[in-house]
Amino acid sequence: MSKSNSMLRLDKYLADLSVGTRTEVKQMIRKGRVMVNGNTETSPETKVDSNHDKIFVDSRELSYVTLEYFMLNKPAGVVSASNDKKQTTVVDLIDEAKRKDLFPVGRLDKDTEGLLIITNDGDLAHQLLSPKKHVDKVYFAKLRDPLKKEDEEAFAAGLKIDEEFTALPAKLERISEQEAYVTIREGKFHQIKRMFEATRNEVIYLKRISMGSLVLDESLSLGEYRELTEEEIEALRENR
Ligand code: URA
Repeated sequence: MSKSNSMLRLDKYLADLSVGTRTEVKQMIRKGRVMVNGNTETSPETKVDSNHDKIFVDSRELSYVTLEYFMLNKPAGVVSASNDKKQTTVVDLIDEAKRKDLFPVGRLDKDTEGLLIITNDGDLAHQLLSPKKHVDKVYFAKLRDPLKKEDEEAFAAGLKIDEEFTALPAKLERISEQEAYVTIREGKFHQIKRMFEATRNEVIYLKRISMGSLVLDESLSLGEYRELTEEEIEALRENR
C-alpha cells in the first residue's frame, strides 16, 4: 500500500552511518574501498537496499537500521499494540514486509479512531510522549448530551477527574451542541472520556485529529496508512 524507503544512494547510506562526510564517502567509494554484496562498487550514486544489501568498508561490515514512520488512520476494533495473541493490532495493519520492530506511539482505545504514528524510532516516540515536551493532541468528540456553558471554562481550569488525577488545563472548542474539539497535552488512560464523565456527559465517538505538528491525512480511509514525509518527520523531531 505504501512504498518502501529502504532504497537509497550508497554515498547517503554511508554518510547517514557517519562513515564520513558526503564528500569523504564519495572519495572512499571511488577509491574502491566499498563493497556491496561482494563486489567493489565505485559509483556513489548506486542505489542500495539498506534492509538487505551487505555493505563493507575496508572489509568491515556495516549495519543500518532503517527508521520507518507511518501515519495510520486507526479504525475502531483494533488494539494499540505491536502484537496480541487474540486481537488484531495496529501493527498488523502495516504490510508484513515493513512490520519489523514497529510499535505505535502511545495508545488509542480500541473504539477510538484516527491518527496514530507507527514507527521503530524509540527516541522520537519517547520525545512525543514525554509530558515535559508538551506535545498537543487534538481530538474530535461526539457527546451523548449537549455541551454546557461552563464546560469550556472547566476544561481550561484543569478538570478534577478523581482523587488521584486532575487533568492539566485543556482546550475545549465547541463545534455544535454535541460535538467538540479537545486539545490535551497529556495522554492518560481514557483521558478524554474521563474528562467528559467529570462533566456528567459521555463520549460516544472519538477520533484523534493531530499530534504535535502532524495532522491526520483525511485522504486515508480507516485502516489505511502512508509513510510520513521527510518534512513531517523533521517537524515532529523539532516539536514545531
Ligand atoms: N482519550 C480517551 O479517552 N481515549 C483515547 O483513545 C484517547 C484519548
